[in-house]
Amino acid sequence: MAQLTGLLGYPVHHSVSPQMQNAAFNEQGLSFEYEKFNVPPEQLQQAVEALKTFHYKGCNVTIPHKTAVMPFLDEISEEARRIGAVNTIVNENGVLVGYNTDGAGFVKGVERLMNRRISSQDTILVIGAGGASRAICYALANKNPKVVAIANRTEAKATQIANDCLRESDVVLSLQQAEEQLASFGIVINTTSMGMNEDDPLPLSLTHLNEGTYVIDIIYNPFQTKWLTLAKEKGAIIDNGVAMLVFQGALAFTKWTGKEPNVSLMEQIVVKSVG
Ligand code: ATR
Repeated sequence: MAQLTGLLGYPVHHSVSPQMQNAAFNEQGLSFEYEKFNVPPEQLQQAVEALKTFHYKGCNVTIPHKTAVMPFLDEISEEARRIGAVNTIVNENGVLVGYNTDGAGFVKGVERLMNRRISSQDTILVIGAGGASRAICYALANKNPKVVAIANRTEAKATQIANDCLRESDVVLSLQQAEEQLASFGIVINTTSMGMNEDDPLPLSLTHLNEGTYVIDIIYNPFQTKWLTLAKEKGAIIDNGVAMLVFQGALAFTKWTGKEPNVSLMEQIVVKSVG
């Protein structure tokens, strides 16, 4: 009988994770299946209990359940606890363990883009202070770059993330300071939703952007935001959110199966669906 996995979210109809994961399972001849489950908030606890009842190997968790799911799990990894959100559950012999692979998945994408590891030379600016930013900040700080700076419209939310997920030496900037100091960062990341809609303002002005800066937008629909297009015109090396989606999925795949998936295949499927 196939080992079962899936996605708990609300809504989930738009998700490409089933195609991405099922293709990766099939390619390796693994007897695993991935389904999506549209779970309204009031049914979340029941859905989590069903994972045990039906011997699921695990599942992914997405909006709006990433934080709400935590009290229903038996154990939470240190990473997920610090991030304050779970995106991957593993059923470890009847014990449901919550992990977060979003931040580590993001870092893998950046390291592929740069063709090297994040190192103590790197200066990184993160724009935004929502859930995605928390996971990304935690994972970046863990790589010990020279500095992570976080800037957000609501500065108090950036300060909270700095306190919870960054190091003492990292900094909180106003958006204006971030714009003025842009040339001092080698890696600039948009984690806000600014760019999802055609008429959104830019998440940050790129007036002071240096050529050769790595500029990453975690949005993948649209495939290339106006902000990324502008960054490219200014000589930046750009990437969208596909890599984060693929690598967070690849890390979850490994937790369930113990194997490394074919990341190129997963990426092809995502690009075909959203690109
Ligand atoms: P997610 O969990 O997906 O990261 P979120 O929690 O909704 O998303 O966070 C959205 C981010 O986009 C926040 O940083 C938010 O800024 P605030 O904390 O000030 O709300 C940012 N954002 C949303 N709309 C914005 C706007 N019009 N201008 C600037 N930032 C905006």
